[in-house]
Amino acid sequence: MPLYHKLGKIPPKRHTIFKKKDGSLHYEQLFGTIGFDGMSSLMYHLHRPTMVKEVGKSFDVSPKAMVSHNIKSRLLKGFEVKPMNDYLESRTVMLFNSDVHISLAAPKKSMTDYFYKNADADEMLFIHKGTGVLKTMLGEIKFEYGDYLIIPRGMIHQISFDSEENRLLIAESYHPIYTPKRYRNWFGQHLEHSPFCERDFKLPQNLQTHDELGDFVIKVKKQGQLHHLVYASHPFDVVGWDGYNYPYGFSIHNFEPITGRVHQPPPVHQTFETSAFVVCSFVPRLYDYHPQSIPAPYNHSNIDSDEVLYYVDGDFMSRKNIDKGYISLHPAGIPHGPHPGTYEASIGKSKTEELAVMIDTFRPLQITKAAMDIDDGKYYRSWLE
Ligand SMILES: [Fe+2]
Repeated sequence: MPLYHKLGKIPPKRHTIFKKKDGSLHYEQLFGTIGFDGMSSLMYHLHRPTMVKEVGKSFDVSPKAMVSHNIKSRLLKGFEVKPMNDYLESRTVMLFNSDVHISLAAPKKSMTDYFYKNADADEMLFIHKGTGVLKTMLGEIKFEYGDYLIIPRGMIHQISFDSEENRLLIAESYHPIYTPKRYRNWFGQHLEHSPFCERDFKLPQNLQTHDELGDFVIKVKKQGQLHHLVYASHPFDVVGWDGYNYPYGFSIHNFEPITGRVHQPPPVHQTFETSAFVVCSFVPRLYDYHPQSIPAPYNHSNIDSDEVLYYVDGDFMSRKNIDKGYISLHPAGIPHGPHPGTYEASIGKSKTEELAVMIDTFRPLQITKAAMDIDDGKYYRSWLE
């Protein structure tokens, strides 16, 4: 996040003496995700962040491909993914490659008896249903319907839900997730033509400092394994921090759509970028206003990317028989476009209420058994008259 932020108490100069009330020193930790080169934060702990007590069992959680070489367009009925109590167990990978794992989750319970850290991947959570609080070592972010939460790799966190009715779309990205570079100036500030700006971001607040020793389980995801580590101090023992590397939220409802006289291409909906995929937000907007315009998209050849659309709300203008929580997959290699009738029906319409999240991956996605279990099996023929 190219925006300086600080919470709690920090010393006036970095890497200098910073004492606790009892005269002992705080423990400074530099926290970046690209060596000493990318954005980083400096945090000050009450206890050493290195006090591992035990390393327990590891569990293989790597996704397994049922379809490795996919050429079919597919439709996954996302809300058929069963709710589960535990947050991590509820995360069900649907589509994946070496760059990104795309999961659906319907967790019922908050994380209370462990903390979680993804050591390999930045995580993007999209909240389709549910409210709650993302609790991290750098502060808390309240979330609600429509929020994206960006959690940089290495961020120890817990998620607390207000109820058992939760539906999440999750992208684990093995490349850093940023806002699009073309919307930022050379200092990182979002420019006037960006569909969102700094005021729209939810930054961590309410830094809670726990001065507790004991047994604290942190489940660390690394190389497809979930490792159980027991630490001797509470991981949320930070008294203060500052910097640029921290989790943040952004509501899809704050994405200001870019519209035009004729159909605008998908990049105008772009919200996040990585070196291996992009995330776009399709939000309610006025349609194209050229008197002869066709608002529905033209057929397009996505020869170089797999297109994943997650349908959130509203009527999706170019699709038939689409419901909330559905995922359509249009694989690279074959063109796709609006369904029969939708192209013509869009003419003369003044606005759309569609709300959807798109993830376009630059390398092909593999499909898990969990995805095949909710695949409608006939979507690839749905363009026949
Ligand atoms: Fe498309």
